Amino acid sequence: MILGIATPYDATAVALVGPDGEVVAESAAAQWHVHARYGGVVPRLAGDEHRANILPAVRTVIDRAGADPRTLTAIGVARGPGLIGSLRIGLDTAAALGLGWQVPVFGVNQLRGRVRSAELGRPSIRYPALILLVSGGQTLLAHMPSIGEIAVIGQTRDDAIGDAYEKVARRLGLGYPGGPAVDRAAQSGSANVPLPRPLLNKGFDFSFSGLKSAVMRQLHSSPEDLCASFVAACTEVLSAKTRRALRAYPAESLVVVGGVAASPQLRAAARELSADAGIELCLPPRRWCTTNAAMTAMTTWDYLAHDIQPLPVPSPRLSIASW
Ligand code: KG4
Repeated sequence: MILGIATPYDATAVALVGPDGEVVAESAAAQWHVHARYGGVVPRLAGDEHRANILPAVRTVIDRAGADPRTLTAIGVARGPGLIGSLRIGLDTAAALGLGWQVPVFGVNQLRGRVRSAELGRPSIRYPALILLVSGGQTLLAHMPSIGEIAVIGQTRDDAIGDAYEKVARRLGLGYPGGPAVDRAAQSGSANVPLPRPLLNKGFDFSFSGLKSAVMRQLHSSPEDLCASFVAACTEVLSAKTRRALRAYPAESLVVVGGVAASPQLRAAARELSADAGIELCLPPRRWCTTNAAMTAMTTWDYLAHDIQPLPVPSPRLSIASW
C-alpha cells in the first residue's frame, strides 16, 4: 500500500491506496469552520490547522486499515501547487515518517493527482484523453495522448473558475465554501440575468474575471436568479470550449476533475458532451472532486511504475505538464 498525504490549501488529507487503486482507508478534514468568518482561506490559520491535524489523521488511517507502516511501499506527499506554508507541513511530516519507517518518499504533483482522481472507483481512463480541470486554483483544458504526455491547450487568463464562484458567493453573502452554496441557490433560480460569456468563441483559453465583475453589477437581481445565471454562463463557456477541443483533438475519454466538477450543472453538461462525442466519461464521485489524498497515493503508483522519484520539496506553482 501507499500512504498519500496532501495539505495543499485548506484540507488535511491522508489516504492508503493499494496497487489497483483501491482506497483502503482515508481521512479528509476540511477547515471551513476556521476560515468561514474571513470569507476565504487565511494562510497562517491553514498552517496551524494542518499542524494540529496531520499526525492524528495519519494515525487514524493506519489504524483503520490495520496496516504496519514499516511495510508500506512508499509515501506520496503533495509538493504543489498550493500555499507554501500548507504544503510544507505535509512535506515535513512525510519526510519524518519516511525516515522513521524506512519508506521512500515521493513529491507528488497534485495536478497529476487530479487526473488520477477520475479513476478512483471508476473505469480506467482510455488514452488519448481530453482533460477539463476546474478547481479553486486552476481552469484548464489539456490533451493527454498517453499517461506520460500532457499538453495544456487552454487555461484561464485571470481567475480560476472556483475562485470566481467563491467571490460571487462572498458578495452575495452565501458563505464559504462558496461553490456548493452558489450551486444550491442556482437550483431555485432562473437564468434570466444577462451576463457575458467571456472568450466563448475564441480559442481554448478562459477568462472569468469579467464575468465575476458583471455579476457584481447586477446585485439588484434576486440572488437565486443571479446564481442561476452565473452558473449557466460558466457551464456554457466550459461546455463550448470542451466541445470544440473534442473536435480538434483525438480523444477516447473525457476526464472532468477538480472541485467544481462536483457541480451538478457541470456534471450534467459533461455527460451530454461525452454522449454526443460517443466517448467514455471519467468523472470522479463528488467526494473525490475536492482535495483528497487518495489521488496523491494513486499518482505515486505511477511514479513507481515509471521509475521516477520527484523530490518532496515544496513547489507552489507547478504545471500539470511536470511529473
Ligand atoms: O479542488 P478543490 O478542493 O481545491 C482547490 O483547488 O482549492 O476546489 C475547491 C473549489 C472551490 O473554489 C469551491 O468553490 C469549488 O471547488 N467547489 C464547487 C463545488 N464544490 C466545490 N464549485 C461548484 N460546485 C460545487 N458543488
